Amino acid sequence: MCGIVGYIGNRDAYPIILNGLKRLEYRGYDSAGIALYDGTNIQLCKTKGKVSDLEKRVKKEIDTKGSLGIGHTRWATHGVPNDVNSHPQYSNSGNLVLIHNGIIENYATIKEELLKRGYTFSSETDTEVLVNLIEDVKKNENVKLGKAVQIALNQVVGAYAIALFDKNKPDEIVVAKLGSPLAIGIGDDEFFVASDASPFIEFTNNAIYLEDEEMAIIRKGREINVRKIKDDRSVDPYVQELEMNLEQIEKGGYEHFMLKEIFEQPSVIKDTYRGRLLANKGIIKLGGLENYIKKFTNADRIIIVACGTSWHAGLVAEYIFEDWARIPVEVEYASEFRYRNPIITEKDVVIAISQSGETADTLAAVKLAKEKGAFVYGICNVVGSTIPRETHSGTYTHAGPEIGVASTKAFTTQITVLTMIALKLAKIKGTIPYSDYMQHLRELELIPSKVEEALKANHKIEEIAEIFKGVNNFLYLGRGYNFPVALEGALKLKEISYIHAEGYPAAEMKHGPIALIDEHMPVVVIAVNSNHYDKVVSNIQEIKSRKGVIIAVVTKGDTVVKEIADYIMEVPNTEEALSPLVTTIPLQLLSYHIAVMLNRNVDQPRNLAKSVTVE
Ligand code: AGP
Ligand code: GLU
Repeated sequence: MCGIVGYIGNRDAYPIILNGLKRLEYRGYDSAGIALYDGTNIQLCKTKGKVSDLEKRVKKEIDTKGSLGIGHTRWATHGVPNDVNSHPQYSNSGNLVLIHNGIIENYATIKEELLKRGYTFSSETDTEVLVNLIEDVKKNENVKLGKAVQIALNQVVGAYAIALFDKNKPDEIVVAKLGSPLAIGIGDDEFFVASDASPFIEFTNNAIYLEDEEMAIIRKGREINVRKIKDDRSVDPYVQELEMNLEQIEKGGYEHFMLKEIFEQPSVIKDTYRGRLLANKGIIKLGGLENYIKKFTNADRIIIVACGTSWHAGLVAEYIFEDWARIPVEVEYASEFRYRNPIITEKDVVIAISQSGETADTLAAVKLAKEKGAFVYGICNVVGSTIPRETHSGTYTHAGPEIGVASTKAFTTQITVLTMIALKLAKIKGTIPYSDYMQHLRELELIPSKVEEALKANHKIEEIAEIFKGVNNFLYLGRGYNFPVALEGALKLKEISYIHAEGYPAAEMKHGPIALIDEHMPVVVIAVNSNHYDKVVSNIQEIKSRKGVIIAVVTKGDTVVKEIADYIMEVPNTEEALSPLVTTIPLQLLSYHIAVMLNRNVDQPRNLAKSVTVE
């Protein structure tokens, strides 16, 4: 999710906040806004588009004096990117303004209650609900802003980093954190608030990083008051002395955005199922799907159209949908589908998968499918991008901005959404026993911790990369659910290290590729616990008998492959159908480290663009 910036002190707030938003641009966003207290009123300006667009509008629209203010760059989750949905968001009285990074899962229930109490809403956002909840508590409990925030947030389910102020008490900013980052810069009689230290590192290197479920009441000229949201207990905050430079801060301390995004996967998978996967209740709630269930359950088939990594996610979905929901699935390269005069009928459902939501070939396939009467469903990461605006409905991944050209967290969050759809349809169709359904739900809920576990092998994988960085060709093999992961692993290596790599179904080796095997051709084999395990072991032995070198992805504790492979990369055990979510992790890390060792431009590899908006 995007960026928040706030300032309270003795300087002009506007330049600090504006430059702070520019510093947060690397986080990607679709709109921006600022609110300043001018001594009497709130001066607020917000716009769809870039910080530069905001800067132009500010010059024309508001007075920029004042030493209290908040600013925001939005990565929309609820409500398309437009001026009204941009932040800051006002409360109904116009006294409070709030900025928010994150997702309020139970915003609809809260909104319903506030509507009954006469509140009105101008935006579609969950954020506007939050600021009015705080106002409602402040009014009804007759408490100060800080206490109102504390009470209100105990009614909220979701993730947030928020900053807000009351124009009637312009000597304080209140902030709170759960799930999204929030740093407080401590200067001489001035305070800075931001998603990371980049907006204030030039003013101070003393910072407090709030912990989850903590809030702070920041008053000019006073000590900062940090409290626990749950029980209002006071906290003695740890003030860090930062030594990172600006570039290091933008990448969260990681060397590249790609590595940062690989390590973000546990949290963004959780963000993607947050409020949608209610395992304890055995419920999956997908807003975009609820009104179109029959389109899927009555469909003759599902056609998935995508490109690149998104196409690989589609291949994983083919296995899941057919295995669980028993709906025929075809996966098509969008670039081929759009030109081959495909047979499409009203009984078809077409799913378009796209991180950017702008890929020209996928967009063309969507338009063709709509022309031919199919029901078209989108799975995208960028809210309000072109493909979601073209499809009949869809589900957004909540991966946050993916800056690295090589797609990583988009892949795992796409699979998370597709898995939830397949599970929901399987339950409705009764194609899997309820006990299996519940088992899959609970296992999906555990995936973020299992991805976290898989990431712990990072340094071991770096050692393996060191051994193979000079190789010219790789083979990647997988069976079943992990055949698409073999393709994805090969693509990752190709696109960032420029080493040739091919993915194959493991059983396909004997139909030709095995002729390539010798001691110079390392073979990455995904050999985790599965129905195919014994067959994969045989494939490994076939390769070993021809002097092939095996790098195997195995389930932690494996004792068989461990004895025959040359190198192993361990992942936690999980269900076969969910294993792509963990087996892809070591392959992402292997390609990343090899590329770094070869001094490649990992975040912007040669010849590639993050979004291929041309044919
Ligand atoms: C994947 O690492 C590549 N960057 C590329 O294949 C990408 O997946 C493809 O261009 C599709 O992009 P999209 O998901 O934004 O449509
Ligand atoms: N959920 C909020 C919205 O959609 C905040 C999104 C963000 O993190 O930028 O406006």
